Amino acid sequence: MYLRTLSTALCRFQRTYRANNHTRLQRCSFKAHLEIYSGNIHRNFRSQNLKLLTNSWIQRLKEGHVPEAELSVKFITEHVLGKERTQLCDLKEDGHILMKEEAESLNQLCLQRLQRVPVQYVIGEWDFRYLNLEMRPPVFIPRPETEELVQLVARHHCLANNKDQQFSFLEVGCGSGAICLSILSEFPQTTCVAIDKSKDAVGLTRDNANRCSVSDRMLLYHTDVRSVLPILASAKFDAIISNPPYIPERDMAYLQPEISRHEDVGALYGGRDGLDVVKEILRISSGILKPHGSVWLEVDISHPEKINDWISSQHLGLIYCGTFDDFTQR
Ligand SMILES: C[S@@+](CC[C@H](N)C(=O)[O-])C[C@H]1O[C@@H](n2cnc3c(N)ncnc32)[C@H](O)[C@@H]1O
Repeated sequence: MYLRTLSTALCRFQRTYRANNHTRLQRCSFKAHLEIYSGNIHRNFRSQNLKLLTNSWIQRLKEGHVPEAELSVKFITEHVLGKERTQLCDLKEDGHILMKEEAESLNQLCLQRLQRVPVQYVIGEWDFRYLNLEMRPPVFIPRPETEELVQLVARHHCLANNKDQQFSFLEVGCGSGAICLSILSEFPQTTCVAIDKSKDAVGLTRDNANRCSVSDRMLLYHTDVRSVLPILASAKFDAIISNPPYIPERDMAYLQPEISRHEDVGALYGGRDGLDVVKEILRISSGILKPHGSVWLEVDISHPEKINDWISSQHLGLIYCGTFDDFTQR
């Protein structure tokens, strides 16, 4: 949804020490796992034939009720072999023979997936729009519908057409940096301030900003939105964009294990009605927006009407302009 100011009518697990320990643990449990399944169809876990091995894992993940089993194994295979080699291997009918280390690596990563670790954390990277970003638990994994939020902001502010016009924005809750880094890298005239209350998120956004070579056009702060005003001083923005934590209390019990066990709850839980952080953002918005400025928020399906009512009752100097469904019709 978007709102405007009243004046004028959006792992690599192996990389860290902790993750290394985790991998060692996984290696032990993988042995145990092999014992359990040896002697039946799962004997192919010892195979170095790519097709046999990946088919065994797809079957095992399905049996373990892991969502998107085929896709998970595909992403893991691409991560281990590289996309081009995976595509070439797919063409070989009798199957491609892996090196021993490659087969071991594939086994380790698929085993993590079996334990419901999100595939993005398993492989330590994920694509968002045109970027490939590093992913590290427990920082929120960017969702595909958020790519549409970036598109909406860009379209509304004509960013593609106004290459010479400066555009500055504030992102509240940058997570891995998906939103702000996409805008910065797609539109070279843009600058941003990005904040997050999670230290892990700020660290990951910083690493991803370096990876995307846009660090020179952003300021990044580890702060809660409730304490951001003194940091911003007199800065004014063309837009405030956020995909805040917005899950209402009643929905928290229904999250998939991938989300509830591995992602930061502070990135998800939005309070009783899901609007705690949304309200904090709206409270400060009109004071830090330029004339013609806008606020773009990803929210729950139950929120637009409540937000509209709330801003009218609070006299925040904002008007509600519209809500857009994402590609899942939410
Ligand atoms: C749903 S995630 C979105 C991350 C990223 N923008 C994305 O779309 O992938 C929400 C983010 O907001 C941060 N956050 C939650 N409450 C916050 C607060 N009060 N102030 C600042 N950041 C907050 C969380 O740490 C988390 O990184």
